[in-house]
Amino acid sequence: MTIPDKIEQQQFDELLKYISVEKQKRVKQHKRPQNALQIITADILIRSIVHKKFKIKNSNIDFKTNEYGKPYLPGFSEFHFNISHSRKWVVCAVDNMPIGIDVEFIRPINFDIARKFFSHTEYNDLFSKSDSERLEYFYELWTLKESYIKAAGKGMAIPLNSFSIQIINGKITIESQTQFTDYYFRKYDIDVNYKLAVCAKNNLFPDNIIHKSFDQLFEEINK
Ligand SMILES: CC(C)(COP(=O)(O)OP(=O)(O)OC[C@H]1O[C@@H](n2cnc3c(N)ncnc32)[C@H](O)[C@@H]1OP(=O)(O)O)[C@@H](O)C(=O)NCCC(=O)NCCS
Repeated sequence: MTIPDKIEQQQFDELLKYISVEKQKRVKQHKRPQNALQIITADILIRSIVHKKFKIKNSNIDFKTNEYGKPYLPGFSEFHFNISHSRKWVVCAVDNMPIGIDVEFIRPINFDIARKFFSHTEYNDLFSKSDSERLEYFYELWTLKESYIKAAGKGMAIPLNSFSIQIINGKITIESQTQFTDYYFRKYDIDVNYKLAVCAKNNLFPDNIIHKSFDQLFEEINK
């Protein structure tokens, strides 16, 4: 889903009431209103899904995080979810096995960053691309890599250059000497200016994404 460019302070204060006190504190530390709104919207999005699926009242939904910060719903070991946000997009993926998702806005970058975060294979693949393809490919790899570390739930505790992702004829593979790599990947097109990747233990990706409007979200959580 996409978030509005701007909302009134009164509506912002209303939205805050849907999320935990802890998260409210985090949100208030953000100086940029867009970042704050992303975090609130992502939280309400997953709350609306939990509310609909398990018929739990929003006020009784209490997410916890693992030691690396990955949120989960205690008591529902077969419910896995992950969220991501970048600029105007807020995305979420759910499954009955571990899952990770990453969305990134495509902006010009200094490719030196790839030397630091990408494996040799990834770096070589990146530089085998033409100048015009390179930026898009960088973001494809970046989102795939992030979706993997988010699915594995260990965040940056998995060094980004400790595994390699390759996209060959549209097939996405992962290889690592040090990590478990029994994960599957899929890229989705949501917006020409963004890249979106999902990584999951299950190889059961839907072909289509469900788009929700901002208003729909609140209708659903208040049902
Ligand atoms: C978790 C992490 C991967 C978040 O990545 P991000 O792209 O900054 O942020 P996203 O919007 O995709 O995801 C944020 C959400 O991930 C979830 N999350 C937090 N820790 C997580 C973890 N260990 N595993 C999975 N998900 C996690 C939270 O729900 C969080 O939402 P919130 O911020 O609204 O509470 C983080 O570890 C990170 O700092 N990444 C570093 C970025 C980097 O250097 N990338 C180089 C890639 S080549």
